[in-house]
Amino acid sequence: MLKPLEEKAKAIINNSYSPYSQFRVAAVVEDSSGRLHTGVNVENASYGLTLCAERNAIFKAVAEGAREIKRVLIYTPTEKPVAPCGACRQVIREFSDQARIVAICDSDARLDTNLATLLPDSFGPDNLD
Ligand code: THU
Repeated sequence: MLKPLEEKAKAIINNSYSPYSQFRVAAVVEDSSGRLHTGVNVENASYGLTLCAERNAIFKAVAEGAREIKRVLIYTPTEKPVAPCGACRQVIREFSDQARIVAICDSDARLDTNLATLLPDSFGPDNLD
């Protein structure tokens, strides 16, 4: 059921710290225990230090003990859904090669996919064995 993730993402969207781009993003990660972890994008006057909402949520999840990601929900208050950037795809990959990725927005359009589709032939922890 995605509704709880959608509701949480919409509830925190105004916590996005995006004074430079004005582009607000919220992400909710569900871990293998069913716990939900939230994140928003956090920008910086030194632009390159900006942290995406997805990575913010994932790093919080890991700090709280999660090691496997089941679902990532991304919300932007836009007309079209927004897919996670390449850096975030690789960070999701660290904790899942199967995660479901859903992006919602303020229209009925949505992206409903998975990490293997967004990041085929990926490099991951197993490659270091
Ligand atoms: N952003 C995210 O939070 N997630 C993405 O997947 C794409 C981009 C943020 C970073 C920056 O604060 C703003 O959106 C514009 O790039």
